[in-house]
Amino acid sequence: MDRVTLPLVVVTSELPGDALTLLGGRARVKTFKSRGGPRTEGEVLRCLGRATGAVTLLTDPITETVLEACPNLRVVSNCAVGVDNIDLRACARRGITVTNTPGVLTEATADLTWALILAAARRVVEGDRLMRAGRFKGWLPTSLLGMDLRGKTLGVLGMGRIGQAVARRAPAFGMRVAYADPRRLTESVESALGATRLPLAELVARVHVLSLHCPLNQETRHLMDGQRLSAMRPGSILINTGRGPLVDEAALVESLRSGHLAAAGLDVYEREPLMAPGLRDLPNAVLLPHIGSASRETREEMARMAVANCLAVLEGRTPSNPVGPPVP
Ligand code: DGY
Repeated sequence: MDRVTLPLVVVTSELPGDALTLLGGRARVKTFKSRGGPRTEGEVLRCLGRATGAVTLLTDPITETVLEACPNLRVVSNCAVGVDNIDLRACARRGITVTNTPGVLTEATADLTWALILAAARRVVEGDRLMRAGRFKGWLPTSLLGMDLRGKTLGVLGMGRIGQAVARRAPAFGMRVAYADPRRLTESVESALGATRLPLAELVARVHVLSLHCPLNQETRHLMDGQRLSAMRPGSILINTGRGPLVDEAALVESLRSGHLAAAGLDVYEREPLMAPGLRDLPNAVLLPHIGSASRETREEMARMAVANCLAVLEGRTPSNPVGPPVP
């Protein structure tokens, strides 16, 4: 194809691995340097300009304003499974296809969720800090006592791919599994996971570790508000590797500070990359910088998938991972 007739693909950040080689000879490519933080709408629309295809990050707001300013856009291919940065309805109205990268990051995210569960339950980061500060004076029967996982119940809130992968790992630590999800798993999946479905209020009140895996949307924003956090079992642990705004972070700080919750393990934040005041000072909060999918293999596969999805749409093929508009 003549170079000028090739579609223009804008990639809003450098990607790991060889994903962009897929575009060789099939599209003109403009890649922006990684920003090191979320872009504003204005920055995104200036990046995208006359692009026909966009490979975007979960930190790029793809709003009505952005779409209005990018009249040639036919596909927004998010390099993430979450698409809460994209106005799906606005894309659907304009006939713009949205795609994501499900599946490939499931196991990496489940592993990291367990890293947080273990770190929070057994006070791993507090211990590490103590060592680095030279404050370890020798073994004591009473120091840094955490919580055994064995015999306890893991609550999974949102039993999609990642929730199920987290649940699959629970028997290795001797934990029972309960879950809440608007959709019930099939009986055979429930029994393979040994998982019991509970109403949300019961799940929150009963489990020892509650792990959040639901998508962020209007219904799930602040799902864990002050009231639900207070309803959690005293001494329990909250884990969030999903999306920050699922939790009222200021209320979580209060709950951790009061000791009602024993600990929290967070990979995501309500106003990422910012944290609620006070969170960083809490010794019982284990804080990671949104690295759930950050293994080299996984991130390279996500990048390849995002680029392949984008190309499929531009070449008139059905992409492997289209995301439909939200059901009204
Ligand atoms: C996603 O894909 O939505 C994660 O948050 C980043 O891997």
